[in-house]
Amino acid sequence: MSEPIALDYAEHTAWLLDGARKDAERFRRLAADLVAPGDRRAADIGCGGGGMAVALAARVPEVTAFDADPAVLEAARSYAARCGADLEFALGDIASGPESFVAALGGPVDFMWAGHVVHHAADQQAALDTLAAAVAPGGRLALAEGGIGARVLPWDVGVGRPGLQARLETAGSERMIAEQCERGAVPMPYGWTAALAKAGLREVRTLNECVDRPAPLAGEALDEALASLRDRVGWFEAFLDADDRAAWKDLLDPGSSSWLGHRDDLAYFEVRTVYLGRKPNGDRS
Ligand SMILES: C[S@@+](CC[C@H](N)C(=O)[O-])C[C@H]1O[C@@H](n2cnc3c(N)ncnc32)[C@H](O)[C@@H]1O
Repeated sequence: MSEPIALDYAEHTAWLLDGARKDAERFRRLAADLVAPGDRRAADIGCGGGGMAVALAARVPEVTAFDADPAVLEAARSYAARCGADLEFALGDIASGPESFVAALGGPVDFMWAGHVVHHAADQQAALDTLAAAVAPGGRLALAEGGIGARVLPWDVGVGRPGLQARLETAGSERMIAEQCERGAVPMPYGWTAALAKAGLREVRTLNECVDRPAPLAGEALDEALASLRDRVGWFEAFLDADDRAAWKDLLDPGSSSWLGHRDDLAYFEVRTVYLGRKPNGDRS
């Protein structure tokens, strides 16, 4: 039998916590922009390290951090405690259907954040429909998905065949296809804006944030760029050919003369995308 491809998030709690910490300022900014004055209940679905849940708790009286993995929820609990955030925690599955999802969440919410979780569901549209069912009339759903992963390398780095960065992105896409095959995914041959509209949401819009750090990168910015490449090469390795694997190994080895950390021509460009939609009020407005 072949090795399973899907990530076991229980093994990656340190990485999830690191993401919550690193993105704390971004989550604060998003919470400030997206929470409405009358919101009473909010949820962070597929909360990982709990970064968005913590940011929401500064603005909304009741916030639930929701995840399918008990070890991940435990990590989010410890992060929230360190931040002094008062959260509820709920264990559940976005693929469990609307009734059991709403029950696990303890009722509908005014604002729901779902960060990079829906693409894990075998039936993404059904999962979105389930999330939308737990948004109160007039409430909003924000979905972080898609975007453009960090681009760091020049086209030709002098190690391996030119185009390493582009082939890393292709490997990511191939891995996604393999994961979908493994879980017997239902195709969703349309974009997230269409998916939100099909889930019954209105005023659907897209929020794109660019992270644009020109060369040369130094200090934390360089560390972050290298860590992001290391993570993705690790996840997508099985979908890279042997020559590309060898080139990445050399480039990411601090002991090598080709180590990327020696270069002054690395840049960091990423687009982080959030899709937003509003649940109609009871009168369909
Ligand atoms: C890529 S991580 C995203 C973490 C965080 N939201 C972020 O954006 O940094 C995906 C998270 O979704 C959770 N997850 C995966 N499948 C799920 C499901 N079917 N129901 C609920 N949570 C799920 C995982 O345990 C993990 O914490």
